[in-house]
Amino acid sequence: MNAPLQQQDPRFVKSTFSAIASRYDLANHLLSGGLDFLWRFRVARLGARHGPKRILDLATGSGDLAIALKKACPDASVTAADFCLPMLAQARRKGVPALVQADALALPFADGSFDLVTVAFGLRNMADWQAAVLEMRRVLADGGQLIVLDFSLPENPVFLPIYRYYLHHVLPGIAGALTRSREAYRYLGESIESFPSGLNMNALIRSCGFQCEPPRAMTFGIVSVYCGMATGRGSIPKADPDGAGRQNEVR
Ligand SMILES: C[S@@+](CC[C@H](N)C(=O)[O-])C[C@H]1O[C@@H](n2cnc3c(N)ncnc32)[C@H](O)[C@@H]1O
Repeated sequence: MNAPLQQQDPRFVKSTFSAIASRYDLANHLLSGGLDFLWRFRVARLGARHGPKRILDLATGSGDLAIALKKACPDASVTAADFCLPMLAQARRKGVPALVQADALALPFADGSFDLVTVAFGLRNMADWQAAVLEMRRVLADGGQLIVLDFSLPENPVFLPIYRYYLHHVLPGIAGALTRSREAYRYLGESIESFPSGLNMNALIRSCGFQCEPPRAMTFGIVSVYCGMATGRGSIPKADPDGAGRQNEVR
């Protein structure tokens, strides 16, 4: 079994987000040029397609996706969960109602409790991606929808090196000055480099008991959306105790 990388350590992730919580939104909106609203809006619209009544937004952070989901699905109950209290405090300040402090790898919800589970920019930060998606499958009803939004690397060979330069050399400086935590944004670049995207991500999601739609790349491929439908419970593999789904072995 490979030793977990530093970025997989939940204590590191929790303390990193605790440190930047109060400036997280500002950094997000400035560094994405406001595009992050558009990305979450797209997820909320995709989520609304099947008329979900019970929605769970995992790793909700400051709650922007939970807010977009409530707007897109006004009749649904939206539960917003995260394991980092300072991030949840930001969400509470913005009026997100049903907040739960919970670890995505051990959710305090019964099997089949939700029709839609979303996770935006959260899965990449988790200690074991496969175990996390299996836990999302567990709390989804059969036929329920999973939507994952996260960063990906552009496939265009001209744009990729420019983006990498921005990610590793420009962004940590600007975001570090904004949040006073350059380390958090160095970690961001590293985590994006090691996170599966496109068909690799679909393969991971499928291995956890989902039928996948083709990945949707947005903004020149710097983010992607993955949609899966939960198939019958008989097809769900057990979580791998040897950690075969860990991030450094997925690709
Ligand atoms: C980059 S933020 C994303 C927040 C929000 N979803 C958004 O779109 O802005 C990542 C969030 O994932 C949360 N997170 C990471 N690992 C988690 C876990 N195992 N369980 C619950 N939350 C987790 C962090 O606390 C943090 O708030």
